[in-house]
Amino acid sequence: MENTKKVMLSGIQPSGDLHLGNYLGAIKNWSVRADEYDCYYFMADMHTITVRQNPADLRRRTIEQLAQYIACGLDPEKNTLFVQSHVHQHAELGWVLQCYTMFGELSRMTQFKDKSKKNADNINGGLFAYPSLMAADILLYQPDYVPVGQDQKQHVELCRNIVQRFNGIYGEVFKMPEFLSTKAGARVMCLTQPESKMSKSLPEGCVFLMEKPDDIRRKFKRAVTDSDTERCVRFDAEAKPGVSNLMSIYSAITGKSYDEIEREFDGLGYGAFKPAVGDAVVELLTPIREETERLLKDKAYLESVYKAGAEKAGWVAEKTLRKVYKKVGFLQR
Ligand code: TYM
Repeated sequence: MENTKKVMLSGIQPSGDLHLGNYLGAIKNWSVRADEYDCYYFMADMHTITVRQNPADLRRRTIEQLAQYIACGLDPEKNTLFVQSHVHQHAELGWVLQCYTMFGELSRMTQFKDKSKKNADNINGGLFAYPSLMAADILLYQPDYVPVGQDQKQHVELCRNIVQRFNGIYGEVFKMPEFLSTKAGARVMCLTQPESKMSKSLPEGCVFLMEKPDDIRRKFKRAVTDSDTERCVRFDAEAKPGVSNLMSIYSAITGKSYDEIEREFDGLGYGAFKPAVGDAVVELLTPIREETERLLKDKAYLESVYKAGAEKAGWVAEKTLRKVYKKVGFLQR
């Protein structure tokens, strides 16, 4: 029987410890529709080696990330959780799609330009062709939606171009996926440099999911607020990027609108607002950290989850890959 449920898919690279940006921009959006959708979430380990990794750390972070997915509310009974490199079809379709991705398209990718600057001594072919592999990650599962943060929108758009090009030649092979983002939290900014996005490369401005409450509170107390004279809590991303970032974090966690937040802190200033955001983040992350720590003690369980996930994902992926191989003219085995 054909699957009639809508399909959702996303992944995160285990290249660093998960942070608040990953959670608010992506994971938070993943768990909401597990009953309605057929959901695939994976650890994008193959993407991480476009930048040199320490092998032992990569293995540790991959399993930690799986535990964190579950601790964030992704029930392995309802979601297919797997490791990208366990499903060989990703590499295979990745190669095919590279041949349907243009040099010019790949050259325009912001992430490629940024990472090339940061890793000037290792601008390898994988880093350049990364979006073709990402398109394969997506298209193997024919998803309706790809929930990611704002910074991945360009890659999803390139994937859509590939669909259009491929289907234009071979007929309706791939379903057109839609980019899906959260309202607040789609682009969480660095706490110390609010003009840059929150990322592990600026650790003082980044809040990690596994961080201890005291460290989280300290980071929020030290968060850069703006040098404007009014010093009131008001949303203005242009003139007050620091405060606006804190407001969007607070809004994403509490569900309060910017108007409500402005009223809540009216007359109180930054001194009261910053610790309140810190407390909200601590309250959000504490159960996730504790559950992750608990799960990490049960390696056999985690192994059973990723094995079952790879089996299910592999089955779906193989179906798409066979279709693609046939369309492009590969002789059947
Ligand atoms: P990655 O690993 O850099 O980030 C994982 C997810 O977290 C989101 N994100 C943020 N959202 C808001 N604010 C931030 N500061 C922030 N930082 C990160 C990202 O948008 C992303 O949703 N190429 C992808 C991984 C990937 C993938 C895929 C995603 C590989 N294949 C297929 C979806 C579908 C990446 O590098 O994300």
